[in-house]
Amino acid sequence: MKSVEMAKVLSIGFLNDSICDLKILCPKIAKEAKAGQFVEVYPDNGENLLSRPISICEIDKEVGSIRLVFQVVGKGTKLFSRLKVNDEIRVLGPCGNGYNLKGGKSVLVGGGIGVPPLIETCKQLEGEKIVVLGFRSGSFLVDEFEKLGAKVYVATDDGSVGFKGNVVELLKSENIVGDNIYSCGPKVMLKFLSMYAQEKNIDCQVSMEERMACGIGACVGCVVQIKDGDGWVYKKVCKDGPVFDSKEVCW
Ligand SMILES: Cc1cc2nc3c(=O)[nH]c(=O)nc-3n(C[C@H](O)[C@H](O)[C@H](O)COP(=O)(O)OP(=O)(O)OC[C@H]3O[C@@H](n4cnc5c(N)ncnc54)[C@H](O)[C@@H]3O)c2cc1C
Ligand code: FES
Repeated sequence: MKSVEMAKVLSIGFLNDSICDLKILCPKIAKEAKAGQFVEVYPDNGENLLSRPISICEIDKEVGSIRLVFQVVGKGTKLFSRLKVNDEIRVLGPCGNGYNLKGGKSVLVGGGIGVPPLIETCKQLEGEKIVVLGFRSGSFLVDEFEKLGAKVYVATDDGSVGFKGNVVELLKSENIVGDNIYSCGPKVMLKFLSMYAQEKNIDCQVSMEERMACGIGACVGCVVQIKDGDGWVYKKVCKDGPVFDSKEVCW
């Protein structure tokens, strides 16, 4: 069940110039949270800004905390990045459905700000894990996946780290296959990943980080077309997703 909590900041830092790493105490949300879900964070600055969806990067059920890793891009994320230890922030969650974690050999594929939710996913998955991460330039969180026992491949658009190209090109060049793919990233990446998964006959779950407005299913700001029999229906990413079976999405 979803809760609204005034979450206390336990720690805050930066992974690089623009990626903020925030740990907050919110026991009710942490207790219910699953890998692949997200929270809505409220910029309570008197300007009535809408809440901002941020994926849950890590869950510590014992402490009652969650970790959020986000890129500072605009007004809301700038405000969150300026929080100090012991400050409080209003958070709603856990939101959305999360991944359906299965057994076998797992391939986790993340692009840019889609990488953070794969940390908790990687932590919870058992068995062989291959992680394929794509960035424009540079990288972050790579060492953390390695510590979790995964074999990690990195692709960058500019070739500054690892393979020069995108994650799907990297998957093809290394012929990376498995029983299940868990992914999160920009829609175009997910589309080509979905084609790769279908070609290789691998089950693929995609987490879509669409633009959102209300974040709670009340508007239709986040709809995607999902196959339904011979036709399709609109589904809300914030309520029915953000995770969908890649074969069901009308790309
Ligand atoms: C389910 C979900 C999970 C997300 N998880 C994360 C996460 O873990 N880490 C993270 O860094 N970001 C994540 N995002 C994206 C994040 O919500 C946006 O970056 C944030 O809302 C921007 O708020 P802002 O006020 O700082 O920027 P704004 O001032 O609102 O916008 C600044 C810029 O960011 C762009 N932007 C806004 N929202 C999005 C979006 N959803 N996708 C791409 N670009 C956007 C705008 O077009 C604009 O160019 C997630 C989004 C969704 C829907
Ligand atoms: S953001 Fe309003 S319905 Fe999803």
